[in-house]
Amino acid sequence: MKLSNNKILITGGASGIGFGLTERFISENNQVIICGRREQALKEAQEKLPTLITKVCDLSIEKERIELFNWIREFHPDVNMLVNNAGIQNWMNISDTDFYGKAEQEITTNILAPIHLTNLFIELESLNTIINVTSGLAFVPFTKVPVYSATKAFFHSFTLSLRHLLKSKNIEVIEMIPPALNTDLGGKGIHDEHPGVSLFVDSVFQQMKDGKDVLTFGFSEMLANASQETVKATFKNMNQ
Ligand SMILES: NC(=O)c1ccc[n+]([C@@H]2O[C@H](COP(=O)([O-])OP(=O)(O)OC[C@H]3O[C@@H](n4cnc5c(N)ncnc54)[C@H](OP(=O)(O)O)[C@@H]3O)[C@@H](O)[C@H]2O)c1
Repeated sequence: MKLSNNKILITGGASGIGFGLTERFISENNQVIICGRREQALKEAQEKLPTLITKVCDLSIEKERIELFNWIREFHPDVNMLVNNAGIQNWMNISDTDFYGKAEQEITTNILAPIHLTNLFIELESLNTIINVTSGLAFVPFTKVPVYSATKAFFHSFTLSLRHLLKSKNIEVIEMIPPALNTDLGGKGIHDEHPGVSLFVDSVFQQMKDGKDVLTFGFSEMLANASQETVKATFKNMNQ
């Protein structure tokens, strides 16, 4: 995979990990397009990075995903990289009254949206790379975010199949597996004590430069490579 002279769509690129990747890809001489629901967040990102192209889009709505793809096909048909980064995380309990509604929103945003975008974007002749952002929680669920953890396990599994399926089309599929990092995921303050995004971005860029297609960092490196015994012990530790 080449790390410069790409045209990249990063979903959820205005904040957190997505913004860290956006900044780095731009500094490595790539053209970057980002999308998200909050127009103000996109505007602020664009003010910091003037070459950035932005698009308001709610990826949980099927029609908006199709509109986003049609816009890309019309105005940016040379996009060659899709980064499925946007995601939400709901802290909840199975007995909460709004559990089902929140679960549905999470499944739509974290699973259906990237699957649909992938299905649409492989129509672009220029597409040669897909980066899927999963999570260390794909390997060991954290029961305070039960549906979120399951969406990431799904996305991890789908990414393995996708890599196999797209080999014949010469589309490289990279899985980026962050550990807990200091972003606003799940709500402001929840992730404050975790490592900053820039350390993670430095590490995953080095791994991509080294030709890796599974990118881990710190705790997620341990989780992604853990034995069943370690998975069980970690589950117990994390959820007691
Ligand atoms: N931070 C962590 O600890 C951690 C660990 C493992 C994995 N991850 C994963 O990393 C990815 C990025 O998360 P983050 O930590 O950077 O959190 P974040 O700052 O909250 O970023 C999430 C981004 O997704 C966008 N988004 C959410 N729902 C959307 C929708 N319906 N349509 C379009 N955009 C939407 C948000 O923009 P709008 O709100 O403007 O729509 C936001 O820019 C997620 O997939 C997350 O699961 C994070």
